[in-house]
Amino acid sequence: MNWYEKSLIKEASPLPTLQQGEYSRSSYGLQDVDKYLSQEEADKMSKEKLSLLGVGGNGIAWESGNTAIKLTVDELEKRNAKIIMNKQKLLGVSALPFVVGVYSIREIPPHLDRIEIEKVTPLDMTERRFFEWFYGEISGDSFSLESASSRMAAQENKNGFEKIIFAIKKLCNCLKEYNIDDVDIFSPNVGWRGNDLVILDLGAIDFP
Ligand SMILES: Nc1ncnc2c1ncn2[C@@H]1O[C@H](COP(=O)(O)OP(=O)(O)O)[C@@H](O)[C@H]1O
Ligand SMILES: [Mg+2]
Repeated sequence: MNWYEKSLIKEASPLPTLQQGEYSRSSYGLQDVDKYLSQEEADKMSKEKLSLLGVGGNGIAWESGNTAIKLTVDELEKRNAKIIMNKQKLLGVSALPFVVGVYSIREIPPHLDRIEIEKVTPLDMTERRFFEWFYGEISGDSFSLESASSRMAAQENKNGFEKIIFAIKKLCNCLKEYNIDDVDIFSPNVGWRGNDLVILDLGAIDFP
């Protein structure tokens, strides 16, 4: 029996309540963490009073106060987390305005990393749909930022999407300025920090 099955038996569990065998594409992260997290580590985590933020293709995220705790199997995510943490230690969180703050990284052998990052506010369903469309328009090959902007300009005021339009443009410009590659930028991987959109899934980008 693995840690996940055992934890379902426990009353107070910080884990998603999926039934065994119910893994789907969107819960591969759960399957991987289930495979690699020992019962001992899971027991330690269950004492931390965590609540679930979400599950993705590479891991699971919980919240603890203002911090998000991510267990991940993604090597790119670990590499990026290290780069970001070092830069932010040196220059402050505002040095990389397009990404969440990274507070700590701990390896959990054999294949997991525990990353503590800044918690941000996920997009709601309307914002998600808008992001998928508008980010695609301005980051894709067929539309320049300028043409998409002017196409949108007419709709901005009447649709009430001014805030997210401004934030997506700012995010795109920022990624360009810092030479960051888009590996997997889509709406579940970004969140609000005040009026700014930042990347919350550190496996979604690549540093030069
Ligand atoms: N820092 C965070 N703040 C708020 N929500 C988060 C944070 N990190 C993750 N989440 C939530 O958990 C989900 C899965 O996390 P994510 O890092 O995207 O995992 P994966 O690498 O498996 O795709 C996200 O889509 C988001 O809803
Ligand atoms: Mg993700």
